[in-house]
Amino acid sequence: MSKIAEILKKETFTQSDIISLLESEGDDKQLLFKESAKIKKEQVENIVYYRGLIEFSNICDKNCEYCGIRADNSNVQRYNLTNEEIIKAADFAYKNCYASIVLQAGELANKVFINRVTTLIEKIKKSTNNEIGITLSLGEQTEETYQRWFNSGAHRYLLRIETTNSNLYKEIHPNNIRHNFETRLQCLELLKKIGYQVGSGVMVGLPFQTYSDLANDLLFMKIFDIDMCGMGPYIEHSETPLYQFRHLLEPKEKRFELTLKMIAILRIMMKDINIAASTALQAIDPMGREKAIKIGANIIMPNITPGKYRNNYKLYENKPCTNEDAEECNSCLEMRISLTDNEIGDGKWGDSLHFIKKNLQT
Ligand code: 5AD
Ligand code: SF4
Ligand code: FES
Repeated sequence: MSKIAEILKKETFTQSDIISLLESEGDDKQLLFKESAKIKKEQVENIVYYRGLIEFSNICDKNCEYCGIRADNSNVQRYNLTNEEIIKAADFAYKNCYASIVLQAGELANKVFINRVTTLIEKIKKSTNNEIGITLSLGEQTEETYQRWFNSGAHRYLLRIETTNSNLYKEIHPNNIRHNFETRLQCLELLKKIGYQVGSGVMVGLPFQTYSDLANDLLFMKIFDIDMCGMGPYIEHSETPLYQFRHLLEPKEKRFELTLKMIAILRIMMKDINIAASTALQAIDPMGREKAIKIGANIIMPNITPGKYRNNYKLYENKPCTNEDAEECNSCLEMRISLTDNEIGDGKWGDSLHFIKKNLQT
């Protein structure tokens, strides 16, 4: 039996097991993907749940060194959807049976912004008969703010840790208190304490990132006991500081393959969590998201931001769906998912089974 086959039989993986799985190629890699696909089918079924993604503003106070819409990038045309536009997008999701939306924006933490999001959550809940699920992806906030948004009706929160290597975190962020690794960790703890379903994740293939780092990232997600995960390949953006290290990067295809392996290994390690097929996968491979669904992902975030704004939410280059609108992505995805042997979980929230089971026990 091959070394990979031996590892795949184990109950738990060590750091070195994960590194071996990340290094697997050829038949070994196929063995990994076969196992993760099998576990997906057994544990969460071959159902893909939609989260309609509304990127409602690209105005950001922060300066993450990898991100195309960082505050210091003056080439970005900044936009901010009106409340009416946002509610209309949420209605589109509701009418098309998406059951859940994600409100995402650049990171702001001022009072006006916090109040606005509170109002939006309440209005969206009301306009959808309290039926639509609301996930937030609005970065680091205070406990009070997280609690307020939770009380208004949001029930899931996405906050990627980006990397669990605190030194690497420092390398890819400016050195100031707004970009602090410890704060990011504390925010994740707060979200869990408040009762959100918590999603985290990392970028794969960053400059200076090693296989040990990636193995530790997966172990972190297991120990922290996350409910949802979104991992995508790092894609360089020419208007960011990290672009200067592009010569250190693995080829894009390699970063893509590595992300698929991360997803497959995580599905085996955390069998019943929700794992997103990130849009960044499709920036590298036209069939990227479908490939992720086949080997373990069960969540897709169709972009339902009004078409005219999409071009200005480019965290990375080559972002797909920037010239399409919500209708076009809707029919495109339907066709794509039908090719993956999965069905769409129409009208169901598709909450993390992991979260549900955890809360039954306590
Ligand atoms: N490449 C890939 N992912 C990126 N993100 C930001 N910039 C990039 C990039 N250049 C991801 C981060 C962030 C999420 C919203 O987008 O992980 O948390
Ligand atoms: Fe702002 Fe998020 Fe981009 Fe960082 S990753 S600069 S917080 S939008
Ligand atoms: Fe947007 Fe295919 S999903 S164009």
